[in-house]
This record gives sequence, C-alpha cells and structure tokens, in this order.
Amino acid sequence: MKNIKFYIETIGCQMNVNDSDKMAEVLSEKGCLRTQDMSQADIVIVNTCSVRFSAEHKAYSLLGRLKEQKDINPDLIIGVTGCMAEYAAKEIKSRCKYVDFVLGAKKVDLFSETVSKYISVQPESKYKQENSEVFKYITIMRGCSNFCSYCIVPHVRGPEVSIDYNQILKEVNETIDAGTKEIILLGQNVNSYNYNGVNFTQLLQKISQIDKVQRIRFMTNHPKDFSDELIDEIATNKKICRHIHLPLQSGSDNILKAMNRKYTYEQYKNLYEKIKNKIPDINITSDIIIGFPGETDSDFQDTFNASRQLQFGGLFIFKYSPRPKTYAAKLKNTVPLETIKKRHTLLLEDSNIISKNINEKYIDKTIEVLVENVNDGIAEARNSQNIKIFFDTKENLKGKTVNVKITKVLPNSMSGILQ
Ligand code: 5AD
Ligand code: SF4
Repeated sequence: MKNIKFYIETIGCQMNVNDSDKMAEVLSEKGCLRTQDMSQADIVIVNTCSVRFSAEHKAYSLLGRLKEQKDINPDLIIGVTGCMAEYAAKEIKSRCKYVDFVLGAKKVDLFSETVSKYISVQPESKYKQENSEVFKYITIMRGCSNFCSYCIVPHVRGPEVSIDYNQILKEVNETIDAGTKEIILLGQNVNSYNYNGVNFTQLLQKISQIDKVQRIRFMTNHPKDFSDELIDEIATNKKICRHIHLPLQSGSDNILKAMNRKYTYEQYKNLYEKIKNKIPDINITSDIIIGFPGETDSDFQDTFNASRQLQFGGLFIFKYSPRPKTYAAKLKNTVPLETIKKRHTLLLEDSNIISKNINEKYIDKTIEVLVENVNDGIAEARNSQNIKIFFDTKENLKGKTVNVKITKVLPNSMSGILQ
C-alpha cells in the first residue's frame, strides 16, 4: 500500500503558515507524506485568508485549477480551511461543489477528526516527519478584539484569546529539541498577550530561559499596546531579534481615527523614537493602507511625509480593500481606484529608496546571519534585523550561524561573501 501524499497551499499571513504546519503534522502522524508538487497529491488543503480581496481571488483561482485535477483524478480529496472557510463556507460549497470539506479557522482543532473521514489508516501510521526547520512559527494567541474599522479578522477569528504559556513552552521545547534555532511568536497583537497574569514581556523571558533557543522573533505589534517594559526587555535580551514590525497604517490623524487605531501620528512617532533611542540597532518595519474611505490628497501627503520622517527599514503598502462585515465597508466616501494606484506607486517608489539607503550602511560590513536554506549553491539567510541575505556556498550550512561580508544591497535583501 503506498503512502497518501498531501499538499498544502498557504495563502495570506504567518498565522496561516502556523496552522498549515499544524495540519501537516496531523497528516504526517497519520502516515501521509508531504509533497511540494500539487499535481502529485492525493489530498490538497487550501488554507485561505480573507484580509484582502486579492487573497480570496487567489483561493478561487487555485480551486479552479484543482477542479481540472479532480476531473482527471476523481479520488482527489480537496479541503478548504482558514478565514475564508470560516465566513464564506456556503459560497465555497456552492461555487466549488467538488470540494470535499470546508473547515473554518476557528475549527482548526477539528482538522484531525475531519480529515480522518477521508483517509484510511496508513502503513507507517507511527511515522513522524523529522522536524529540521531552522525557524518555527508558534501561535501564542488567537483572534483579535481591536476592531480596526477596515479589518475582517475580529469578525472571522473571534475575540482575542491568549494561549496557556505552559502549552507554548512545551511547544517551544519540542521544536527546539528537534533542532529549530529560531522561534517566531505569532498573534494579531502579541503586545496584549496575557495568560493568568503572565504578560508578553514575561512570556519572552520564560522562552529565552530555554537554553537552546537561539533567536526569538514575534509579530505583529500594535502601537497602542507596546509597553516601556517590552522595549527594555528587547534592549537587554540578546536572544530577541533586532526587528519590530509596527504597523502605522496612516500618517493622518483623521484617517487613524476613522480606522479606529486608537493612536495619533504624534503618539506613534514618540513610541518609534523611544524604541530607536533605547535599541539603536533595531530595524522597524511597518504596514500602510492606501485609499481608506475619505483619504484626501492632504491625508495621503501626511502618510508620505511620515514615511520620509520615520525612515522605515521596510514598508508593506496595501491598497484598501473593502471587506464584508467591517464598519469601513459601509462608508460611502470611497477613493477612486486610479487615485489609490497613483498614491500606492508614489509611496512604494519613495519607500524603496529609503529602505535601500538604510541597507547601504551594511556595505563592506561583516555581519552574523542564520542560514535558513541552501539551494543550488546559494544560501538564503537572515540577520537579526530580519533582512534576507544571499551568498554562494558549497557547504550545507542550513541551521548554522555564519559571518557574511555584504557586497550588494537592494530595498528588501542583500548579498555578500561568506567569511
Ligand atoms: N484592506 C487593505 N489592507 C488591509 N489590511 C488589513 N485589512 C485590510 C484591508 N481591508 C492590512 C493592514 C494590516 C495587514 C496585515 O493587512 O495593513 O496591518
Ligand atoms: Fe485587524 Fe486591527 Fe486586529 Fe490587526 S489589530 S487583526 S488590523 S483588527
């Protein structure tokens, strides 16, 4: 009897990568084998996202391709999971009748039970895939209670719930024992983590006490909840990477208010400067939404100026996408798509120049990087600041910390020579 092969397509954010990892573990424990080639799979899981319309579009086009695959192989099992599966289950089932099961993000715990209905016990059911990942995402909280007015997450993932730190520590210990070097803690707003009085800073302290943990990262942050205590912890705890993703969303106070972000630009700037002063080698990156309803030329100019003033190491710029159930989707004063595109291009071009200039300081410097992968003689690594670094090597350095002299920089990556 041959092993069942499974393929998981992850759409959207890192929260989904972690859920995909969990589903892969369940399937591996059942004796199935993971494949990176969708056309070879007996089971395909499409783990969806609904934060922007483009993610939904991607899911439906993949499901379209899967229909063709199922026409050729009627035994193919197709499952849809994640955020879109949570709120649009009916639509998915009616648009894609060939899908076998739809399991929403809140019900990820039922994955094992659900998938068992479609697969028989496998020959090596004790088989567990060896964990040789260099970094591992670990979810520390689910849901969100912030209700930013544009965001679908609180509506589909429900209110914020922190996970028991004992369970988190167990997961960290297991993955570290299996060889993982870097832990990436995940939550929609990790700064408000609280389980039985243990806050996020205390959780970081507990994790960093585990000897073999080499690096800790976390995302994402909310400026309204980023405490002084946390800044001090990052400044003094060398295991915590020098990178903070701190979404600004807009540089205009009017828009920030309409977005229900609960801070002004001035407050954000003060926090940003405090972090930079206390942790000089920190890399701060951010998210911006362009074209929120009512965004005037002057509001956009405020955002553009903010990007110039703050000099982010990297900026993710999203075109506003109205999402069902959100407050903002009801607003009538929408910004024309042409205007959104123009503003998007202006900010993107400018922020790329800024990020590249910031990276220029690395030229000719030798820095420490952790190697994540080596493919065809090219190593892919990351420094503490979360910048991707490429270099040539003949050795299999995966999981090793090495020194690289930087010779070339781009806005979002660098390359160099192994020392
Ligand atoms: N439209 C565009 N971007 C959005 N984001 C969240 N919701 C929307 C939306 N409706 C962006 C925010 C958030 C990032 C993960 O996605 O910038 O920080
Ligand atoms: Fe969405 Fe705001 Fe929650 Fe982030 S903090 S998930 S943007 S509601």
